[in-house]
Amino acid sequence: MEDKKLIFSAIQPTGTFTLGNYIGAVRNWAPLQNDYNCIYCVADMHAITVKQEPAKLRQNILNSYALLMACGIDPEKSILFIQSHAPTHAELNWILCCNTQYGELSRMTQFKDKSQKHPDDINAGLFTYPSLMAADILAYNADLVPVGVDQKQHLELSRNIAQRFNQRYGDFFTLPEPYIIDVGAKVMSLQDPTKKMSKSDENPNACILILDGKDTIVRKFKRAVTDSEAEVCFREGKDGINNLMTIYSVVTGKDFASIEAEFAGKGYGDFKLAVGEAVADHLEPVRTEFARLIADKAYLKKCYTEGAERAMRISTRTVAKVYHKVGFVDLK
Ligand code: TYM
Repeated sequence: MEDKKLIFSAIQPTGTFTLGNYIGAVRNWAPLQNDYNCIYCVADMHAITVKQEPAKLRQNILNSYALLMACGIDPEKSILFIQSHAPTHAELNWILCCNTQYGELSRMTQFKDKSQKHPDDINAGLFTYPSLMAADILAYNADLVPVGVDQKQHLELSRNIAQRFNQRYGDFFTLPEPYIIDVGAKVMSLQDPTKKMSKSDENPNACILILDGKDTIVRKFKRAVTDSEAEVCFREGKDGINNLMTIYSVVTGKDFASIEAEFAGKGYGDFKLAVGEAVADHLEPVRTEFARLIADKAYLKKCYTEGAERAMRISTRTVAKVYHKVGFVDLK
């Protein structure tokens, strides 16, 4: 690989990505390919920390892989692979688990949220999830990790784990930095704009899926919760409008001042329709490209096989060095 900084990021294969995944993370990954060495992965091992239906999971993993490509990730430029194809992540995870404290993991807000949502399945994998995430990143000694705001706490823990390992065993891991965009790092629910947009929301109108058709997208935006005023402007307390303005700004490239001018004197109905149409039009090429890619299973297989080989070439070396550092006996 060329001598550039290294980017790593991953996404869970939950069917199709949400507009939050897209705006907060995936959309930003393609442009980074020009200036960095990029490694992106479908985090299928993370996905089984909540119950999954095996046949559906398998389909979702392939869909997610194709969708990343449809969002502009080029498997020639970047290393694009499926997490479970690189067993090094699980190997490194074990070492890192032994360098992660119970107290640290108990403080993770995502663990607390998910435990509340699934009280019948608070499994050890859900608890140690951030350590596996640290393994993903540290296996490649990534410099930067592009994510949405909700992953910031996990990233801070990854840094702490890396730092602790370095103190115990001598400097080895690069301390990863979060790479979080200014506008759109937290896309909110369309039905409750104080909550983040999430696929697991019970109300299907709360969340846009990037493979939703134009009619569905427009309909969901028309139903978006706003406020009792009638002014399109970005202001504290106008969570619904602020969220719609953020989304509109990202997909059209317009700044807030020109959006306010565009909708001055117009009602929320016009604004919501414009946002819905702009989002649907913006996502149209992604949907078309996805349909093309998912039909070509042989090409997808070639890409993820090569991606896994390239990921393994790097991460195997990391794991061997880590094993040596902790005092295991070298096999070769
Ligand atoms: P995941 O699959 O939940 O989300 C993937 C990416 O989408 C971002 N995101 C959002 N951004 C803005 N607004 C939203 N409403 C929104 N919802 C999700 C997330 O911040 C994330 O960047 N644990 C990770 C996957 C992972 C990972 C890693 C990430 C596994 N290993 C190593 C980075 C590095 C996760 O569950 O993301």
